Amino acid sequence: VTDEQPYRTSYHFQPPQNWMNDPNAPMYYKGVYHFFYQHNPYAATFGDKIIWAHSVSSDLINWIHLNNALEPSEPYDINSCWSGSATILPGEKPVILYTGIDHNKHQVQNLATPKNLSDPFLREWTKHPQNPLITPPNEVEEDEFRDPTTAWHGKDGKWRVIIGAQKGDEGKVILYQSEDFVNWTVSPKPFFATDNTRVIECPDFFPVYINSTNGVDTSVENSSVRHVLKISYQSKQHDYYFLGKYVSDKENFVPDEKFTGTSKDLRFDYGKFYASKSFFDYAKNRRILWGWVNESDTTQDDIEKGWAGLQTIPRKVWLDKSGKRLMQWPIEEVENLRGSKISITGKKLEGGSTLEVSGITASQADVEVLFELPDLESGELLEDPSEVDPQLLCSKPYASRNGQIGPFGLLALASKDLTEQTAVFFQIYKTPNRHLCLMCSDHSRSSLRQDLDKTTYGTFFDIDPNLKEISLRSLIDKSIIESFGDGGRASITSRVYPLLAIKRDAHLYVFNNGSQSVIISKLNAWSMKQAEIGLEGSIRCA
Ligand code: FRU
Repeated sequence: VTDEQPYRTSYHFQPPQNWMNDPNAPMYYKGVYHFFYQHNPYAATFGDKIIWAHSVSSDLINWIHLNNALEPSEPYDINSCWSGSATILPGEKPVILYTGIDHNKHQVQNLATPKNLSDPFLREWTKHPQNPLITPPNEVEEDEFRDPTTAWHGKDGKWRVIIGAQKGDEGKVILYQSEDFVNWTVSPKPFFATDNTRVIECPDFFPVYINSTNGVDTSVENSSVRHVLKISYQSKQHDYYFLGKYVSDKENFVPDEKFTGTSKDLRFDYGKFYASKSFFDYAKNRRILWGWVNESDTTQDDIEKGWAGLQTIPRKVWLDKSGKRLMQWPIEEVENLRGSKISITGKKLEGGSTLEVSGITASQADVEVLFELPDLESGELLEDPSEVDPQLLCSKPYASRNGQIGPFGLLALASKDLTEQTAVFFQIYKTPNRHLCLMCSDHSRSSLRQDLDKTTYGTFFDIDPNLKEISLRSLIDKSIIESFGDGGRASITSRVYPLLAIKRDAHLYVFNNGSQSVIISKLNAWSMKQAEIGLEGSIRCA
């Protein structure tokens, strides 16, 4: 299959075939990681009977596909089982809340519980006899009310859950409370709302430690944590997050910053990444984030490939020391797939130079590089960065950049002659009062093929004026590149479909197009083994 399928991934999660979108209800239960996802079992396109597919794993990298967990069957979900989340109730009892598209095409919230709690695979799920538990309240559109979060337990002993919605042009997040998880009462005021944004999908709400990279259970509320609200704006196809203060007795979340609709809003990922969902992994005391990555080719291409949609490698997420943004890093388990390794140390990269990293399978690799920087004062001056859209700055052709420190970085999935290349790079700027790093993923030359979305992505992040080194990590897997700048301060996920740079004809380079030289203080690149992802019985073990 892989020979005919140069874009099918080797270690990213995918169903055996057909369409996949949102991650649903990730959780850890009795030694097993569970992952559910939105799936159209009949076609490589989104459909009108979406179901919950289900896979299990012992390490979040190798997966066994099980039978579907939830399928349309009742008046309250007969037109699809849409996204939702898991909550582990006291006594280690997992439950799922999900959105049903009912016989009137209204969106309602339903409960499902495992048939057999002693089965660690939780293969079968029972829909609650009182479904639907929640129908659209007056303040929202009946067909824009969906995606319940993991519930959290307030100090008063009541459960809370939030649900995405829309009224008119306003995007809303609606809060419900319950004592028994079955009878839910709507809160009179929205938990969060934004004008002119339209529907909010897939909210996620969780605490993060102020002083630790460890994760924390969703119900924790004390002075050692801050809270994160993540929302997915369908109109923008991006996942935005807000750090802020949650006061449960007031049912109030006060974000530190308001949504601006500009490049200043914080996002989990500045590339393709949507409808993400996190969970607390109490086995390893970390919070893990999953995100859906859709295709950048055409629907016709997807039909020919027979599949569409990927999930990112799960990421650990925590609050940066600055308290101003979240950090993300691929879970350590992915490193178990690292095979043969190439290293480069102490190599000076003059301005205008390109160096091949040979000896690995460049179409399926993990690359970590640490660049030693020149004095940051030599960086280009940006008088007013608030006037500059980083994505547009990244889209400028190299020739018209007056790069001083950078652009430098990687050319991934590149052809030997470099006619195809995806450039993932940094450029350092100074402004009147701080230093900024621009991180870009330039897709303009990613493929000789036409009819692909080759939008270039980019973002700024603040750097310390005394920064001596900056790291870049890229997980490359056939048609996806997940890149992490400065230890996880910013991430960009790309989908690219090279014509020449596939299989053994894919190459990897390090480059520097700035006028200042930079030094590769350390580069490690590994060929990545294939993850075992398959139907039960077809794989050794997971
Ligand atoms: C987000 C979303 C959700 C919905 C699901 C349907 O991508 O539109 O709001 O529940 O996908 O598959």
